Amino acid sequence: MKNSANTLGKSDKFLILGCGFSGSFFARTIRKFGCTVLTSSRSENKDPNSFVFNSENYEVPNEKIFDGVTHILSCIPPDNDGKDPVLGRLKSKLLNLSLEWIGYLSTTGVYGDTKGDWVSEIDQPNPLQKRSQRRLNCEKEWLQSGLPVQIFRLPGIYGPGRSTFEAIKNKKIQVIFKKNQVFSRIHVADITNAIIYLLQNKHSLQFHQIINIADDEPCSQLEVIQYCYDHLGLKMPKPIFFEDAKNELSPMAQSFWMENRKVSNKLLCKTLGYKLIYKNYKLGLKNCFMNI
Ligand SMILES: NC(=O)c1ccc[n+]([C@@H]2O[C@H](COP(=O)([O-])OP(=O)(O)OC[C@H]3O[C@@H](n4cnc5c(N)ncnc54)[C@H](OP(=O)(O)O)[C@@H]3O)[C@@H](O)[C@H]2O)c1
Repeated sequence: MKNSANTLGKSDKFLILGCGFSGSFFARTIRKFGCTVLTSSRSENKDPNSFVFNSENYEVPNEKIFDGVTHILSCIPPDNDGKDPVLGRLKSKLLNLSLEWIGYLSTTGVYGDTKGDWVSEIDQPNPLQKRSQRRLNCEKEWLQSGLPVQIFRLPGIYGPGRSTFEAIKNKKIQVIFKKNQVFSRIHVADITNAIIYLLQNKHSLQFHQIINIADDEPCSQLEVIQYCYDHLGLKMPKPIFFEDAKNELSPMAQSFWMENRKVSNKLLCKTLGYKLIYKNYKLGLKNCFMNI
């Protein structure tokens, strides 16, 4: 019988499907608990714990990969038809495993535009963008799969190696101002730690199938950019009004500015008691600054 306060250890085997930015942070952390962790990527690499999974070819991972798997985290985005790449290729395989838990990383884009208001898990999703409609479709597929899935809705993910500091350094920054526009964010360490917190306490906490993981303080993009320029000792270029900049922006960048919402973390942080490591972008970016 497992201890309810610490349910993770040697007997747990995790597959991380799509080991990009969030997946690799999660894999590194969960290994420290003594769990076995195998990770997927679309092409071969030298990591002995990595295997190839690419939903766009017909190669299915070797049987041995799945032996004894207890937990899966899927970080793979929807395909172009709005189908989930993991379920499309591996659903029947997964249904035959004795899985305790599957985590699916989704996005808060499924909520659509709330004109700057707070939005929480009890609000009906209302995705505006095609990619968010595809995402909601994948969420539905997971919820209907019969698998023990928990969905995490994430806003803009940042962390060491992927933050506004890198955007400034690599001259990828666009200093744009749009009145009353706010964004929510989450530091990659809080995605990992929140999920581990939920897994460790799953016998004592009520199970919620959809959970937002966001920090406490949504704010304007300009505030974050100004903070980073100040931290780097550089002068921020004069902001361009969104209306003047929009025709020059890529369709992806334009769509980013079309939605204005504040993502509530009350379920995670009040009801379920998770304590954020980085409550706001200032704390999170200080951590990123140490790594640039
Ligand atoms: N970035 C954000 O701000 C943000 C915000 C909210 C939600 N999300 C979503 O949260 C999840 C994790 O985000 P992230 O930024 O950590 O992701 P990421 O770094 O882009 O990693 C995505 C992973 O998915 C794999 N992948 C993509 N298409 C695949 C396919 N067809 N078959 C198999 N594997 C495939 C990639 O493989 P390779 O390693 O081979 O490239 C990569 O490992 C993603 O679903 C993302 O869309 C992201």
